[in-house]
Amino acid sequence: MEKVTDTIIHIGVNDHNIHLFEAQYPVPQGMAYNSYVILDEKIAVTDTVEESFAHQWFANLEEALQGRKPDYLIVHHMEGDHSANIQAFMEKYPEAQVVSSLAALNMMKCYFGVDYTPRAIPVREGFVLELGKHALQFIAAPMIHWPEVFMSYDACDKVLFSADAFGTFGASDQEPEEPWETEARRYYYGIVGKFGTFTETLLKKAAGLDIKTICSLHGPVLTGDVSHYVDLYKKWASYTPESDGVFIPYTSIYGHTEKAVQLLAEELKKAGKEVVTMNLAENDVSYALTLAFYYKNIVFATTTYNGGIFPTMEDLLFRLADHSFCKRRVGFIENGSWGPAAAKTMKEKLVACKELEYTDTTVTVKGALNDVSVEAVKKLVAELA
Ligand code: FEO
Repeated sequence: MEKVTDTIIHIGVNDHNIHLFEAQYPVPQGMAYNSYVILDEKIAVTDTVEESFAHQWFANLEEALQGRKPDYLIVHHMEGDHSANIQAFMEKYPEAQVVSSLAALNMMKCYFGVDYTPRAIPVREGFVLELGKHALQFIAAPMIHWPEVFMSYDACDKVLFSADAFGTFGASDQEPEEPWETEARRYYYGIVGKFGTFTETLLKKAAGLDIKTICSLHGPVLTGDVSHYVDLYKKWASYTPESDGVFIPYTSIYGHTEKAVQLLAEELKKAGKEVVTMNLAENDVSYALTLAFYYKNIVFATTTYNGGIFPTMEDLLFRLADHSFCKRRVGFIENGSWGPAAAKTMKEKLVACKELEYTDTTVTVKGALNDVSVEAVKKLVAELA
């Protein structure tokens, strides 16, 4: 437990056993599930935690309550990592009311088979829950990350309870290995990033608030220069590249495509470009997806495979299209010994993506690099540099 302010206490938990968050994102530094108690004339608890941490969460809650009883359970978001203990809470504290959107109340019926409407305070945009000195103003935040999501703002301590927004991968009880934005960016693009316009709408609403602290549902409590985090979110929500460099995700079966990638990377570096390459066989696709959004220029390099493209590249392209990939310059390296068709197939996979500018040069490698394909690499360098 830690104090966020004198009257707001973090009662969340840290999961160091989890390997895959949401059954797909590797979280080598664990995961935090955050929940808070606001102590005032009335007491509000915000959200719960993942099911297997119920015991620890209730122990934290009881310690924070110091013999008092909670009046409200505020449900900002109904996904299981936050909502799993709603039913247990409502049974343990039969006089408490649940405060949530109508959509969340409907989801509670689905998950718990219980209609909490008689014990509910439904919220709409602008609704204010008075606790005493604290008054929570509710802000609709649909599709960040589910449709029922609301955030709330406490003008007393200038705290934004931001639901999944401004979250990150990694437990919060250990020193992070990298700056907040490294894993927050992977979290954003993987989990929230598909619906950038919804995030932009939310940021416009939040611009009118004096925010000193952001309490998200994952990761550390954010204080200090909050504009740093908000500015990053503005960039991410608008799909604006953060670097003019080049990202080259690739697959290579016997190393020949990799040699073409290495040549491209070396020549681009000589030309002064920042370059990152990534072998898709050795890295989880979520890291590649994030870098594809980070850089302005992406060169996809893969082999023709079963008349299509290599599976790990197909997975990356599927996920990019599914996450609203846009506003980038794109080039291709294809390899095929007798019928190279990978570039055409890769381009088809991106057909739904908006504002992509394609390079004039596509590098075709027939088995191994030769004079012709080396020349094509140099032409591609000239275009990208
Ligand atoms: Fe952290 Fe969308 O749940």
